[in-house]
Amino acid sequence: MQKLGWPRTKIDLDACYQDHHDELARFESRSTLTWQRSLCRKLVTLMNRDLISTSLNHEHVLDLEGIKVRVKPNVFNPSLFLSGMFYAHLLTTVLPKKQPRRVLELGTGTGLGAIIAARSAEQVHASDINPEAVACARSNVEANQCLDTVKLGVGSLFEPWSGNKYDLILFNPPYYIGEAQTPLEQALYAGKALETISNFAMLAGQYLNDRASILLLLSSEAVCSRIIGILNRQGFQWRLIAVSDFFIELFYLFEFQPLVKD
Ligand SMILES: C[S@@+](CC[C@H](N)C(=O)[O-])C[C@H]1O[C@@H](n2cnc3c(N)ncnc32)[C@H](O)[C@@H]1O
Repeated sequence: MQKLGWPRTKIDLDACYQDHHDELARFESRSTLTWQRSLCRKLVTLMNRDLISTSLNHEHVLDLEGIKVRVKPNVFNPSLFLSGMFYAHLLTTVLPKKQPRRVLELGTGTGLGAIIAARSAEQVHASDINPEAVACARSNVEANQCLDTVKLGVGSLFEPWSGNKYDLILFNPPYYIGEAQTPLEQALYAGKALETISNFAMLAGQYLNDRASILLLLSSEAVCSRIIGILNRQGFQWRLIAVSDFFIELFYLFEFQPLVKD
């Protein structure tokens, strides 16, 4: 069993909303790692490659944020890929302050985010395009005794929850540019032109209640300014509400809300 901690995290739930291009450019320069950090990252990635490929075929049990989850083969492992670990930590800190009533988690993987959301929300819907991930999430939701609150569905993005509206949408999305060849790669690659993000941005507005918002986890490895630009063009303003510094990678929690037109 792995018990995992987290390094320096800054949270600012009162950050200002942004909708200007020059702010995006400023953000991009802030997100770039120094060459020393980039070099360490390359070394760690090289060393990790074999570990990741062997561990993909085995089941693991993790203890994250006091929640035990099993990671089945072919399901995104939140501790190996790190972003899941930070996402879980940031949700644990932010959700009790937001107290949303209805939550939708997209790309739920092991179901950890949905289980954390169930501590603060009355109802949680969650989906994943990978059927193995949804089966894994279902057994974790059951083991954590939140089957009454969390409902799961297999499908792309909003497909299983068509016609519903939520106070908060959570997504730790695939954010690398490239085509996925395997179910597990779908957890990492968003398409040659980031189609997963564009489709998400196009549809998200229909699923939000008044004053609802979206929490999106991104990292210094993602093309953040391009992803924010995609959401901007669909009428969302953004603010950065949390940053975690893991030396070789920075993790960001962005909040997006529809721009109110006067
Ligand atoms: C980065 S992983 C995050 C998993 C989990 N939320 C976590 O943080 O550990 C992204 C997840 O999104 C899922 N995914 C990728 N494309 C999707 C889509 N179009 N619709 C729904 N889920 C998708 C993947 O299968 C994967 O489980």
